[in-house]
Amino acid sequence: MSRIQSILEQNSFSQSDFVQLLNANAMDQKLIFAKAAAIKKAEVGTQVYYRGLIEYSNRCAKDCYYCGVRRSNQTIKRYQVTDAEVLEAAQFAYDQQFASIVIQSGEQSGKVFARKIEKLLKSVKSIGQGALGITLSCGEQSKETYERWFEAGAHRYLLRIETSNPDLYSKIHPKNDQHNFLKRITALHDLKEVGYQVGTGVMIGLPFQTMDDLAKDLLFFKELDIDMAGMGPYIEHHETPLYNYRDTLLPLQDRFNLSLKMVALLRILMKDINIAATTAMQAIDPEGREKALMVGANVIMPNLTPLKYRDDYLLYEDKPCIDEEADACKNCLEARIHRTGNSIGYNQWGDSKHFAKRKSN
Ligand code: 5AD
Ligand code: FES
Repeated sequence: MSRIQSILEQNSFSQSDFVQLLNANAMDQKLIFAKAAAIKKAEVGTQVYYRGLIEYSNRCAKDCYYCGVRRSNQTIKRYQVTDAEVLEAAQFAYDQQFASIVIQSGEQSGKVFARKIEKLLKSVKSIGQGALGITLSCGEQSKETYERWFEAGAHRYLLRIETSNPDLYSKIHPKNDQHNFLKRITALHDLKEVGYQVGTGVMIGLPFQTMDDLAKDLLFFKELDIDMAGMGPYIEHHETPLYNYRDTLLPLQDRFNLSLKMVALLRILMKDINIAATTAMQAIDPEGREKALMVGANVIMPNLTPLKYRDDYLLYEDKPCIDEEADACKNCLEARIHRTGNSIGYNQWGDSKHFAKRKSN
């Protein structure tokens, strides 16, 4: 039995196990992918759940060194989708039997924003008498705001830790109170306490990031006992400070491959959570999301942002699908997903099984 095979037989994994798995060669990698696919099938099944994505606003108070919508990027047009447009997209999701939406936004704080989202949540909830499940991804907020949004109908929340290594965190963010690693951890705990299904994630292939960092990220997810994950390759953006380090990065294909491995390893580590096949995977490889579905992912977020705004929500370069109508995406996506041996969980919220178990314990 190869070293990789014997690690895969284990029931628990150390940091060094994960480093070896992340470094596995092409042949051993197949073993990892096969194991992850088998676990996915047995534990969460072969249905893929849709979350219609609305990129609500690219206004952002933060200045993350990797992100194309950071506050200091003055080359982009700032937008906020109107309430009517959000409701139209949500109605579309409902009509298409997507069952869930995600409202994602640049980070805005303050009462006006909190109230605006609260009101929107209530309106979305009135569609089909609460038929739509709602995930929010609107950054760090006070616990009180998280509570209000939960009361208004959101029941899942995505807040990526971006990296679980505090030193690396401080290299990819400005060093100030607004970009504080511990505050982000506190926000994740607050979200759990309020009662959300909580998702987090990291970027893969960041400048200065090591295999040990990624191995620790996996252990961090387990320790935090997350319900959902979204991870993808870091993709450089020319209007950001980290662009200066582009020559130090792994080639895009390697970042993609490493991301696939992270998805597979997370499925092996956390068998019953929801894992998203992210858009950043698709940005590198046109079949990227489908490949992720084949090695452990079970959630996909078709983009429902009104077309006129899509060019302005470029977190990274070469973002795909910026000129396709939502429904055009839908048809091609369904065929693509069927080709992966998965079906689509239309009309089902597809909540995290892990969350259900966590709550019943
Ligand atoms: N490359 C890849 N992902 C990025 N994100 C932001 N900027 C980039 C980038 N340059 C991701 C972050 C953030 C999410 C909304 O998008 O992980 O949490
Ligand atoms: Fe907007 Fe990081 S730049 S949250």
